Order: sequence, then structure tokens, then C-alpha cells
Amino acid sequence: MDDFFTKRGISKAIRILDGGAGTGILGAELAELGFTNLDALDPSAGMLEKAKEKDIYKHFICDFLGTNRLDVPDATYDAVVSAGAFIVGHIGPECFGELIRIVKPGGHVMIVVKEIPPEISKSPYIANLRAEMNRRQENGQWKILTMTEISKWMNYPVMFYVCEICPESQQADGLV
Ligand SMILES: C[S@@+](CC[C@H](N)C(=O)[O-])C[C@H]1O[C@@H](n2cnc3c(N)ncnc32)[C@H](O)[C@@H]1O
Repeated sequence: MDDFFTKRGISKAIRILDGGAGTGILGAELAELGFTNLDALDPSAGMLEKAKEKDIYKHFICDFLGTNRLDVPDATYDAVVSAGAFIVGHIGPECFGELIRIVKPGGHVMIVVKEIPPEISKSPYIANLRAEMNRRQENGQWKILTMTEISKWMNYPVMFYVCEICPESQQADGLV
């Protein structure tokens, strides 16, 4: 993620939401790299309590990423990042509309996903995630900038996706 921002000359003071922050492992890495304006979202109050102890996040949102509307104004964040939380039973592609609403045009949604194949996960989760990501691109809401394998987890690819929010994203009728 740091590489992505650095190559584009993006400031480390950008406002970032860590979705499915858990105890704040990703946030701690970003803070270590110099990012100073981090918020955490997680539906577990216990996880957020642990994240608070790290003293790296400014605001805490105890809520789910899903089809629900968050108590966050439109175009609040420069980026939403997430690692380890886009998995079966946790965060799914149904939250993309809400992410597009809360990220500024030109901002980014950046997710790290362990791509466990359907015969193991017993779920079409990955295919659905990619289909919805592509659908949002075809509808002009975001542009997929990166779809890269960054490592392996138990021989399965760990993918890094970056989608850039388009200026007209909010106008795409019925999609958000
Ligand atoms: C495996 S942990 C990953 C935590 C952290 N990102 C990390 O890298 O250590 C997954 C987290 O996602 C949270 N979670 C589950 N469902 C969620 C949802 N619908 N929206 C947001 N967070 C969710 C869980 O509470 C848990 O803290």
C-alpha cells in the first residue's frame, strides 16, 4: 500500500479508514510507515478496544461493512483499506456501494484478499467479489487499477486490489 501511495506522490496525511480493522495490525503497519490520519471500523467492540490500545487511530466506528448505511458523510475518506477481513462470512462485495459513497472521487479502495478456491472454501465468494468489482467498473463507478498477487498463504494467492473512485460515481443510478 505504501508503495502505491509513494509512487503516486500521495501524502501520508491522507484520511484512511481501516475496514475490518480488528486489533489494528494493518493500521499499526501503516502508522509505522508514516500514515498519520487513520480511522478504524469493526463490528466488534472488543476488537476496537484492543485497537485503541495501539494509539494509532483517530476515530472508531463500531459497525459492519455491508449493505447498511454507515454514519459517515459522503466522500469523507481518501482511501478505505482492508486486510484479512474480505473473507467468507466477514466482509463481502455487497459493501462496495457504501465504500464508493464514503470515499472521495479520485480516492481509493484497497483490499488484500486470500484467494481460497471454491472447492476448499465451499463458496463462490472470490468469483462474486471479482464479478461485483468488474460490474462497478463497467458502470463507471470505479476503475480497477491493481489486481496483483503479492504473496502466498498456504499455497493460495494473496491478492491486492486497488480501485479508484470515478468522479461520477455517485450519479450512477441505483448502484450505490
Ligand atoms: C481476520 S480479522 C482481520 C483484522 C485486521 N484487519 C488484521 O489484519 O489483523 C477480521 C476482522 O473483520 C471483522 N469483520 C467481520 N465482519 C465484518 C464486516 N461485515 N464489516 C467489517 N468488519 C468485519 C471482524 O470483527 C474481525 O475483526
